[in-house]
Amino acid sequence: MKRMITDVLGIQYPVLQGGMAWIADAGLAAAVSNAGGAGIISTGGRTTEYTREAIRRAKELTTRPFGVNIMLMAPNKEEIVQVVCEEKPAFVTLGAGNPVPFFAQLHAAGLKVLPVIPNVKLAKRVEAAGADAIVAEGMEGGGHIGVLTTMALMTQVIPEVSLPVVAAGGFADGRGIAAALVMGAAGVQLGTRFLLAAECPVHPNVKQKLIEAVDTDTIVTGYTLNGAVRGLRNPFTEKFVALENEGKTDKETLSLMTRGTNRLAAVDGDTVNGMMQAGQSLLPLKKIESAQVIMDALMRETRETLAAAAAIHI
Ligand SMILES: Cc1cc2nc3c(=O)[nH]c(=O)nc-3n(C[C@H](O)[C@H](O)[C@H](O)COP(=O)(O)O)c2cc1C
Repeated sequence: MKRMITDVLGIQYPVLQGGMAWIADAGLAAAVSNAGGAGIISTGGRTTEYTREAIRRAKELTTRPFGVNIMLMAPNKEEIVQVVCEEKPAFVTLGAGNPVPFFAQLHAAGLKVLPVIPNVKLAKRVEAAGADAIVAEGMEGGGHIGVLTTMALMTQVIPEVSLPVVAAGGFADGRGIAAALVMGAAGVQLGTRFLLAAECPVHPNVKQKLIEAVDTDTIVTGYTLNGAVRGLRNPFTEKFVALENEGKTDKETLSLMTRGTNRLAAVDGDTVNGMMQAGQSLLPLKKIESAQVIMDALMRETRETLAAAAAIHI
């Protein structure tokens, strides 16, 4: 049997809170870690000063392991990696680019390295290069996505690597977590579910839209830009996809239209013109609760589901 992510990271429950640009700060990460999972601070769009401060703040708020997410599209990624190596969170997740060139530096600093991968080819490549575990993220999830679903990824990635595989994309309750563990996942990563944590600093307007949303309320922008992003339907995303489908607007203009839209929604609370990144599993998002209450519910449901599964005979 493969190692569980609890064993790799020294955490209580096999649940990671995914990096969420402009949102996942020291307060949220520490709250999730204190609740027994592993919180992750986002650095996408952030400065090195912000990153250093956030790691130091999280260490004041928790003595438990937490991670930092590094967006490999960021122009300051080298500097961010340097700061992370100096400040030493327990681990990093790296996505949206080639993580391999950073492995040696991160390992030399004593950090665990968990690349986010969207297919088997990349999973094998990062395993060969020495990753400690991987996050396999399916296209049900919020934010930047690949083309495979979480189910198809778990089906194909888990048997192809000996690394622990953390499954991400579409998990919002304990039934899903139990299913992933039974399939051989080492743990799960949730993003959207933690947007409703009381400690999550995403704007209250966005939290309200998430509570009101139903299962079909996400849409994917950026398919024509090689940068697909899943978020809530709203006037901005509907108009953007209509322009993409029409095919008359050039890519540069479309790219410019996306600039600043994550921040506009997450920080300023503009739910009309901003991009509210979110995954497809929206109905379980009913109210704002502390990370501890969310984690306790997730673990209770996971245990109940695993116990019920033991009684299934076929
Ligand atoms: C608002 C939001 C922002 C995100 N930003 C990032 C990011 O900056 N870096 C990253 O690696 N993943 C990012 N993600 C993906 C999450 O880390 C996580 O893998 C994903 O949310 C899992 O799917 P779920 O939303 O269905 O739980 C983001 C997701 C959301 C919802």
